Amino acid sequence: MAEKSFKYVILGGGVSAGYAAREFSKQGVNPGELALISKEAVAPYERPALSKAYLFPEGTARLPGFHVCVGSGGERLLPEWYTEKGISLILNTEIVKADLASKTLTSAAGETFTYQTLVIATGSTVIQLSDFGVKGADAKNIFYLREIDDADKLVEAIKTKKSGKAVIVGGGYIGLELSAALRINNIDVTMVYPEPWCMPRLFTAEIAAFYEGYYANKGVNIIKGTVAVGFDKNDNGEVTDVQLKDGRVLEADIVVVGVGGRPLTTLFKGQVEEEKGGIKTDSFFKTSIPDVYAVGDVATFPLKLYNEIRRVEHVDHARKSAEQAVKAIFASEQGTPVEEYDYLPYFYSRAFDLSWQFYGDNVGETVLFGDSSPTSTTHKFGTYWIKDGKVVGAFLESGTPEENKALAKVAKVQPAVNSLDQLATEGIAFASKI
Ligand code: FDA
Ligand code: NAD
Repeated sequence: MAEKSFKYVILGGGVSAGYAAREFSKQGVNPGELALISKEAVAPYERPALSKAYLFPEGTARLPGFHVCVGSGGERLLPEWYTEKGISLILNTEIVKADLASKTLTSAAGETFTYQTLVIATGSTVIQLSDFGVKGADAKNIFYLREIDDADKLVEAIKTKKSGKAVIVGGGYIGLELSAALRINNIDVTMVYPEPWCMPRLFTAEIAAFYEGYYANKGVNIIKGTVAVGFDKNDNGEVTDVQLKDGRVLEADIVVVGVGGRPLTTLFKGQVEEEKGGIKTDSFFKTSIPDVYAVGDVATFPLKLYNEIRRVEHVDHARKSAEQAVKAIFASEQGTPVEEYDYLPYFYSRAFDLSWQFYGDNVGETVLFGDSSPTSTTHKFGTYWIKDGKVVGAFLESGTPEENKALAKVAKVQPAVNSLDQLATEGIAFASKI
């Protein structure tokens, strides 16, 4: 099979890949120089839609509506956009071998692609229950959610199992967003997770108490402190029950599993330096190998603000790291300087009629403010994280655009705090003054 050669190759077709392609175009890539290779069948899209409007019974999102870069208010890159720009959009193509020494990628179908500069944007894959040896985890109607094909299968099951029962395994982002989406579809939902409260990676016990109460009021059952250890299936191979470690058995027509992600670095094992589970980069997303960059979920990069090396699995960083890497590629070719990546962590989620944002770092003491009762009519509340006498992180539910801007600013500026009581009393007004 003929070898295809490109000056630049983006490996991956997700959020980072799409934002990288746009930046290549802004920087003036010539027709024929750039290829984007993805195992997905569609052009890059805003992945967050898959666990939200893609699953709604009304106001449903479908492609081409949410191709990148609409999620950040940018231009929507339809497949035609790539053609117009002379960018080769190579879809349905899984790369199964990457040889960084000879700068060659090989696809499952045996095609080879060579490059001068590679941008690795392979993202994450889901951790599967079969990885922990859970019995019966191969039953039909047990779903994971990462790509649009996964979402399509789930949508189909929601239609066929109308008013059925679902068990959601995991209390993180997928767990909380999918429980809400299925409940909105009138499915009877039970969440199961091992921790004492949901989203323990970010939420304090007080923040989690609001969401757990709110979900309970929406009819979601929550079972904490245990895990799924097995599944039963019927003669058609469809899941019927979930066995829990504490001995309980839950009926289920649909199971959705969200027990975490794993960065897709396998292709590069032993060829590139890794750290904290990801591919180690500098502030320009350059890896330990010349002309190879890594962006998005797979990159472990210097987080300048905290003087630490971190990996971030969120969309805002996927977009910004991609733009930074492409700017750095052109700057290095032209011998011009580019500023170091100076990232302020930003995470958000939306479920039911709730919407929260978080900026900064969730370390140190916490102060809760506002009305965090699950039955409050405004459900406006938040939390500050205080370390070494300074605000380092800020969370707000149901903020206005101005308040969310203030939240970002307070986390970036890190103002000194004289009294925690003052923070609790002033609430978001404290951030708005900064
Ligand atoms: P991403 O996963 O987007 O893309 C990786 C791409 O590489 C995929 O197209 C994949 O097929 C391709 N690929 C991988 N290996 C390949 C190979 N060998 N050959 C060819 N192609 C290959 N974040 C947030 O901040 N807010 C939110 O609301 C959400 N919501 C959300 C919902 C759901 C359902 C998921 C799964 C994730 C989120 N996220 C999120 C996280 C966010 O979407 C995620 O951090 C970014 O998509 C990461 O972008 P990447 O480009 O790194 O990976
Ligand atoms: P997560 O890390 O947010 O949550 C994993 C959860 O799995 C844990 O909180 C825990 O409750 C649970 N868990 C772990 N082991 C378990 C077990 N054996 N049995 C039952 N539960 C177990 O991961 P996720 O929710 O699967 O999300 C996957 C990826 O998608 C992450 O990268 C996440 O950042 C991303 N994502 C982000 C958003 C967002 O930012 N709004 C939304 C959806 C997905």
